[in-house]
Amino acid sequence: MRGLAGKIAIVTGAAGGIGSAAVARLLAEGCRVVAVDLDEDDIVKACGEVDGDRFVAVAADVSTPDGCAAYVKQAVHRFGAVHLFLNNAGIMGVRMPIVDMPVAEFDRIIAVNLRGVFLGLQAVIRQMIAQGEGGAVVNTSSAGALRPYVNSAGYGTSKNGGISLTKVAALENGSHGVRVNAVCPGSTATPLLTAAFGAEGAEKSGDHLPLARVASPDEIAALMVYLLSDDASYQTGGVYTVDGGLML
Ligand code: NAI
Repeated sequence: MRGLAGKIAIVTGAAGGIGSAAVARLLAEGCRVVAVDLDEDDIVKACGEVDGDRFVAVAADVSTPDGCAAYVKQAVHRFGAVHLFLNNAGIMGVRMPIVDMPVAEFDRIIAVNLRGVFLGLQAVIRQMIAQGEGGAVVNTSSAGALRPYVNSAGYGTSKNGGISLTKVAALENGSHGVRVNAVCPGSTATPLLTAAFGAEGAEKSGDHLPLARVASPDEIAALMVYLLSDDASYQTGGVYTVDGGLML
């Protein structure tokens, strides 16, 4: 894809299914990658042994300002800039009806999925503006934001908030050459899906779809990396589903 070789990318949630698939694609396109997750060993396990000249694993909590400042600082320290950002870390949290959900659990989901996305945008776009060369950002939302389902008050609310943040960030930063888009995956075979629905439930969660299966992480990462590339140079503020036909 155009405009990726030599670029410096930050990927959060890089120890997870979708994040590690995106890291692999970005490296294959010739990017240098700062891979962020809660635990450094988990990042290396998920992403494999990668050439240290083009890859750094950073342990950081995206729900805190310090965590987001730390991964931007590492990118600048190791590679000198930030051009691309996949704002992807997220949790499903405990699934239960609104009437039963502890406030602390609602707050925990919002802290990672919504506050974390806001803090990441703030830290990374400030850096992009300072560099003066533009940039591209993809926020990971969810098909569940567009088509709500039961027991997902915290998750669905946070992912809808991520869409609002995408649109506001796109409006505010287009004049700086910074594009911001959201990707809304449907059910994807990752640890998050298995933790939420169990191994069998996760597998079956694609049965009702037109494509009759769940996505592989790489099928989601493909759209994300396209949106980060210059092949998507006129796309900003967009919300793109990749869901096996769920919305039909
Ligand atoms: P995953 O569980 O494999 O990966 C998520 C990663 O985020 C994990 O490695 C986790 O350690 C990390 N993370 C969680 N909290 C963090 C924090 N505070 N700081 C830093 N890292 C943190 O799940 P998956 O599926 O790869 O998820 C990636 C994104 O895709 C998430 O935002 C998720 O909500 C979204 N998504 C996933 C779908 C699916 O069916 N798997 C469907 C729709 C959206």
